[in-house]
Amino acid sequence: MNLNIIACCDSKYGIARDGKIPWSFKEDMEFFKQTTQDSVIIMGRKTWDSLSKKPLPNRYNIVISSKNNVSDQEKGIWVKTPEIALNRARLFDKKIFIIGGEQIYRYFIENFFINSLILTIIDHDYKCDQYLSIELLRNKNITVNKNEKICIDRINNIERKLCFNFVFPA
Ligand SMILES: NC(=O)c1ccc[n+]([C@@H]2O[C@H](COP(=O)([O-])OP(=O)(O)OC[C@H]3O[C@@H](n4cnc5c(N)ncnc54)[C@H](OP(=O)(O)O)[C@@H]3O)[C@@H](O)[C@H]2O)c1
Repeated sequence: MNLNIIACCDSKYGIARDGKIPWSFKEDMEFFKQTTQDSVIIMGRKTWDSLSKKPLPNRYNIVISSKNNVSDQEKGIWVKTPEIALNRARLFDKKIFIIGGEQIYRYFIENFFINSLILTIIDHDYKCDQYLSIELLRNKNITVNKNEKICIDRINNIERKLCFNFVFPA
């Protein structure tokens, strides 16, 4: 099984502040969309809530929640544990991406072998209070594929340097 993590982080691997992503980059949204097209995406219930509670189109959306177990095409596939999420994901025979948030990234990094980490890193500290627990990764063999671009943060209306596609292969 090929398990991939995709995230957008600030310079300290921060991913959110006050329950929200404190930036918005059109280019990163497009990068995320292109990368995850026609794949299986696995997310935590709070990340689902942050996506307006609708599945992202052209992807198999799996949501992990201890409380709900709804399976309805309109609402994505709801499962009670990360292990069930992986079992369901495997059935599609597609690439699998873990798309967040903090709790779900941490659980998968601690408990499974991650084949690749696809990160967009923003060259700025957004003073986040939730992080990608990158220090827990077992595969430390890091390759950095730099593709830098200056982009506009539409929330803060300022230019930032983004580095796309850092891949840490197994
Ligand atoms: N920068 C980025 O790339 C990025 C990407 C994604 C998300 N985010 C941000 O990250 C934040 C959300 O992260 P978060 O850590 O608060 O929440 P999360 O990981 O999205 O979801 C947490 C929820 O998932 C369920 N869950 C987690 N572990 C579980 C387990 N082992 N078994 C069963 N259910 C489990 C629980 O749902 P129940 O409470 O329903 O049981 C838990 O409350 C948001 O602000 C979001 O915008 C950032």
